[in-house]
Amino acid sequence: MRTLLISLVQSINGSYAQDDWSTGVSTDADFAYFKGLRRQAGAIVIDRRTALNPQLPVINAPGKAMADTPVHVLTGSDSTVLAAELEARGLNYQAHHFTPDTIAEVLEGIECRSDTILCESGPHLAYRLLDSYPNAQLHLSMSPLYSRNPGSHFCRLDADIDLRLDGVESRDGQVFIRYSKA
Ligand SMILES: NC(=O)c1ccc[n+]([C@@H]2O[C@H](COP(=O)([O-])OP(=O)(O)OC[C@H]3O[C@@H](n4cnc5c(N)ncnc54)[C@H](OP(=O)(O)O)[C@@H]3O)[C@@H](O)[C@H]2O)c1
Repeated sequence: MRTLLISLVQSINGSYAQDDWSTGVSTDADFAYFKGLRRQAGAIVIDRRTALNPQLPVINAPGKAMADTPVHVLTGSDSTVLAAELEARGLNYQAHHFTPDTIAEVLEGIECRSDTILCESGPHLAYRLLDSYPNAQLHLSMSPLYSRNPGSHFCRLDADIDLRLDGVESRDGQVFIRYSKA
């Protein structure tokens, strides 16, 4: 079964974004770790909102390091509507519908250049995948930052996910915690 690495950064009080941007809780150390995860990835998984956000850079734009890396957008909604939206915007991303019951089959079937898939979504899709995909690893990086305002973001997935701690390391004041499903 393919390995799904889920990358998330949060502040010490659990914010995943600042004014709707994850850059507000990220640091240089976090970005360097994230680039290391990208180097292992044979495919990238993102959510619908990230894919359709015109303010975000295109992940696999021609000439970029990820130009040849397949990018997949996973949705629990209608994937044909999403595919049309992606095409209308000229995005070379592939849309896939998933449910908790089909996610293993979906991730096994997507175009991928290695056995490692990297999820770069926000917390909603990230935790839905962590909950439903058996071979997921959560790479959680903890910024040395307390941040709470109306633009900070907390995941509201209603689930219990039992995790096993795989490792903890710190780099340049940032804490990285790796978990697998227990
Ligand atoms: N801290 C981090 O590591 C990190 C990483 C990435 C992003 N972020 C931040 O997280 C925040 C976004 O959180 P989130 O990704 O959990 O996003 P969200 O918008 O809260 O949830 C995204 C999901 O909502 C569903 N959805 C429902 N209605 C939608 C609509 N009208 N348009 C698009 N999607 C809709 C989609 O699922 P279906 O397609 O299944 O319906 C989509 O996967 C942003 O502020 C972003 O900057 C943080």
